Amino acid sequence: ERPVETQTKRVLLAAPRGYCAGVDRAVVAVEKALETYGAPVYVRKEIVHNKHVVETLRERGAIFVNETDEVPEGSRLVFSAHGVSPAVRASAVARSLDTIDATCPLVTKVHKEAVRFANDDYDILLIGHTGHEEVEGTAGEAPDHVQIVNSPDEVDQVVVRDPAKVVWISQTTLSVDETMETVRRLREKFPSLQDPPSDDICYATQNRQVAVKKLAPECDLVIVVGSANSSNSVRLVEVALKAGAKASYRVDRKTEIKDEWLEGVTTVGVTSGASVPEILVEDVIAHLADHGFGTVDEVRTATEDLMFSLPRELRAGLKAAG
Ligand code: F3S
Repeated sequence: ERPVETQTKRVLLAAPRGYCAGVDRAVVAVEKALETYGAPVYVRKEIVHNKHVVETLRERGAIFVNETDEVPEGSRLVFSAHGVSPAVRASAVARSLDTIDATCPLVTKVHKEAVRFANDDYDILLIGHTGHEEVEGTAGEAPDHVQIVNSPDEVDQVVVRDPAKVVWISQTTLSVDETMETVRRLREKFPSLQDPPSDDICYATQNRQVAVKKLAPECDLVIVVGSANSSNSVRLVEVALKAGAKASYRVDRKTEIKDEWLEGVTTVGVTSGASVPEILVEDVIAHLADHGFGTVDEVRTATEDLMFSLPRELRAGLKAAG
């Protein structure tokens, strides 16, 4: 092997990375609501799990709350991209809140599956992370039928009423490989386990994992830009390490990159979670350039052109406002 100094230090930049269609729609929904109705606009939970996005919207007049009871009666409230349970919707109605639903349509799809299988009286095994807002919302559609399975290791504890009538569904932002392992073990236990009608792990989660897997084996270090509470961002670190990256760290912004991470490193992979604005990635690339990583090669494994129309209530409001 050549000594490190004579090797070209380079960056491999994953594509696709960053914003997905559901995040873009949710962020634009809050921006448009602020423009159309003026501040304040209340938002239940973080609109998307990214610090920078939340801080920017807060500066523009969005007020982030944990629950509907913190919102003054009659005010305007946006539901985040992660979705809400029927109980949350009902509490918003009870407070006469004017709601704008920014739930990602791909999360709504999973809610509908939960409702349908609950109506057919299935035991529903929801693969996902306890406490994550999306999982709370989906489980809340059918609390009597849903149980959450966090990982392959939890399969042993799963008990169902009728092993012939069991279906699995999932959170949209999981590791594809780990989820398939959970499903494999569930099926070992319940051979008639039914699959969901279509993939619940969304296209954006899948595409970002495929891209990082492709570049990881060549990388001494993979930097994932994303916030600590962003499920899909945290998964990208795990996927990078599993795929052969020598090291991988998640950072919210470039200032979190430690100089020692770059010591002896030749190739750095860079990617970002689905809730991360591209400006934060550009900052990281500039920081790496300052540290001698001058060449940037994009590693693209897919192109994305999906876009969702804005929430219905907001489109009506925009129309009325002319
Ligand atoms: Fe939707 Fe997937 Fe993004 S579920 S919000 S498209 S990460």
